[in-house]
Amino acid sequence: MRIVLVGPPGAGKGTQAAYLAKNLAIPHISTGDLFRANISQGTELGLKAKSYMDAGELVPDEVTIGMAKDRMEQPDAVNGFLLDGFPRNVAQAEALDAMLESESMKLDAVLDLEVPEDEVVKRIAGRRICRNDSAHVFHVTYSAPKTEGVCDACGGELYQRDDDSEETVRKRLEVYHTQTEPIIDYYKAQGLVVTITALGKVDEVTARAMEALRGDK
Ligand code: AP5
Ligand code: ZN
Repeated sequence: MRIVLVGPPGAGKGTQAAYLAKNLAIPHISTGDLFRANISQGTELGLKAKSYMDAGELVPDEVTIGMAKDRMEQPDAVNGFLLDGFPRNVAQAEALDAMLESESMKLDAVLDLEVPEDEVVKRIAGRRICRNDSAHVFHVTYSAPKTEGVCDACGGELYQRDDDSEETVRKRLEVYHTQTEPIIDYYKAQGLVVTITALGKVDEVTARAMEALRGDK
């Protein structure tokens, strides 16, 4: 299956992607995670991306599209993938369509996670991520680690993302509404969108998402 996950910052895209990718046996491809890996490795691409991410703005398409394409061309993605955070504007959606079309492939579904804004703000404020593995995501109250600041899964140090400050989150939400939400209409025109509410416990949301994707097939 080839799936795009869409939803505001803090909706739980990364959290759900970890479970959905496992259930569906496809790789989870997050452009945010790819940028953060490049930043921590000090690559040229990471240097280009950092100032935009810290400001809560989109990294320019010419950097993002090439990086996403390289990742989608890796051998583990030939039979499908779950895209998280890409595409993020209509130009990226058009580039993805062109990329897939040239390989005679198409998307199966666009899963839209709906969460009210006050909830995403709470989710982001309490988020803590493991330095060893970005799939190890916690929340100080909703899914607190057993020991404060320490990852339950691997013992790694938990940290708060640089772009999770209140001011940057506000900017990211504005960018979501103006630049990313239009891709939902773009994909609705192709009959690909399935919308679910992402409120409730993590496993309840996963079950809802799996059911919606099954119903779509
Ligand atoms: P990116 O990393 O993609 O961030 P985002 O879209 O803002 O999404 P988040 O990672 O903040 O949230 P999430 O929905 O994954 O939520 P999570 O599962 O962590 O992008 C960052 C930046 O990179 C962008 O601003 C941009 O600069 C750049 N970028 C990336 N892609 C780009 C692109 N294509 N083009 C241009 N620029 C790009 O959950 C949040 C918290 O909630 C966690 O603490 C979690 O434990 C908790 N939680 C999750 N589910 C639940 C639940 N059901 N109940 C209670 N708590 C929950
Ligand atoms: Zn960990």
